[in-house]
Amino acid sequence: MSTDRPRIGVFGLGRGCDLMRKVNLCGGQLVAVCDRIPSKLSRAEEYMAPGGGYYVDFDEFIQHDMDGVIIANYFNDHARFAVKALEAGKAVMSECTAASTMADCVALVRAVEKTGGIYMLGENYPFTASSQELRRIYLSGRLGKVVFAEGEYVHPMSSNGILNIAPWMNEKDRELYDNGAAPILHWRRWLARTYYSTHAMAPLMYATDLEPRDVSCLAACIEEEAEKDSRFAGDGAAPMLVGMSDGSVFRVAGSCNFGPAGTWYRLACTKGGVETVRGNRPMIRMNFPDDRPTPGVTVTEQCYTPDFPEAAELAKNAGHGGGDFFVVYNFIRTLRDGMKPYFDVYKAVALSEMAIMGWRSALAGGVRFCLPDLRLESERVKWENYTFTPFPNNETGEPPTMPCCTRDIKTNYYGDIDPFEAYKARVAAEAEKAEKEVK
Ligand SMILES: NC(=O)c1ccc[n+]([C@@H]2O[C@H](COP(=O)([O-])OP(=O)(O)OC[C@H]3O[C@@H](n4cnc5c(N)ncnc54)[C@H](O)[C@@H]3O)[C@@H](O)[C@H]2O)c1
Repeated sequence: MSTDRPRIGVFGLGRGCDLMRKVNLCGGQLVAVCDRIPSKLSRAEEYMAPGGGYYVDFDEFIQHDMDGVIIANYFNDHARFAVKALEAGKAVMSECTAASTMADCVALVRAVEKTGGIYMLGENYPFTASSQELRRIYLSGRLGKVVFAEGEYVHPMSSNGILNIAPWMNEKDRELYDNGAAPILHWRRWLARTYYSTHAMAPLMYATDLEPRDVSCLAACIEEEAEKDSRFAGDGAAPMLVGMSDGSVFRVAGSCNFGPAGTWYRLACTKGGVETVRGNRPMIRMNFPDDRPTPGVTVTEQCYTPDFPEAAELAKNAGHGGGDFFVVYNFIRTLRDGMKPYFDVYKAVALSEMAIMGWRSALAGGVRFCLPDLRLESERVKWENYTFTPFPNNETGEPPTMPCCTRDIKTNYYGDIDPFEAYKARVAAEAEKAEKEVK
């Protein structure tokens, strides 16, 4: 790196703008941006270093003289750009999710190892003040060992809300919210309910240093509601039961479409419990069961609002409860100070695998599937060609290869091609073998 202020480029100027605004604040320099929609590029002017680059083509952008890139393009299409960036010698911070197919998970891990490059998942929910406090308390050992944990990221959206960020086929919406995709192909319409789950699980991983190992999922599709909605993915909820690396069980529900909105995390441990207070308040509730002869009586309960352990003044005004500050700050520190990213490529793909295998489980009626350990080349070869996806290809218009809804609602957009029919025989066969897969 040529400077003590790492030079950063940002790819995708929707969500990417939130992150772009933090780059200079966090000790980096914004030197390049890229979005296929030229009118979006001016959003960077206020933050750009002198002589900065503005690109509509990723392959040109990635040749810009810079140390790292923030990848914030379409949700289901991060991995192939992350691989290209690593191959061009750039450090990568990727928005969630790291990869949307098993094949992409394998390609990403291999690219990081082959290039020796830096890869960090920009998952922000572990870095709110309350999530950081969960980690501090858990690692102090006061609560004993976690047995069960829960994480919810509940973000219901009305049809209009969805139309606003995944425009329908009308020119007025397109003018307002152009995101470059053919509207019908935009990822938010096809977002199978388990896929956006990093915000539910990552804070629990960060608090406990555990990783997911297997998953079972049931999805709830309320047909009438789905019909009213403006997306093809009609399930309202798809909670997953996840076996963790130490044998504990976590329940996670990511991006659910029910009320009320909010995030919530709970660690239930052998000597007590701690949770965030429901309703998105940054408050923590901790309690310890009685250790006197009468069991079950709570003698200690504490509720308080924790502060950030560091950089509180800078973090407190940043989006997503300060999480947006810390992901950029940590990326800059990774580049400048050699800090190891917590959500490295292995943890990043473990989160993606949980979503992919969780959806496979939902389609198979809740069968438990293992998450392959992609640190092992022997596992990678088994999954390197598993390209099934519930998303259509935004560039080519190719249809999805698995359904994005547990009921066959509106997925007939592609006429005769019915991804549910095509995939369900396969998933049934896979489910039969699943008992053997679960170690
Ligand atoms: N961590 C969070 O709290 C959080 C919040 C919002 C969004 N996100 C994530 O950020 C990502 C982006 O979200 P969004 O809402 O901005 O999505 P979006 O689909 O609205 O916007 C993506 C942008 O990328 C551009 N783009 C896509 N492919 C491109 C290409 N090949 N070349 C050039 N430009 C291209 C599009 O033109 C568009 O401006 C998603 O992965 C989403 O999940 C995370």
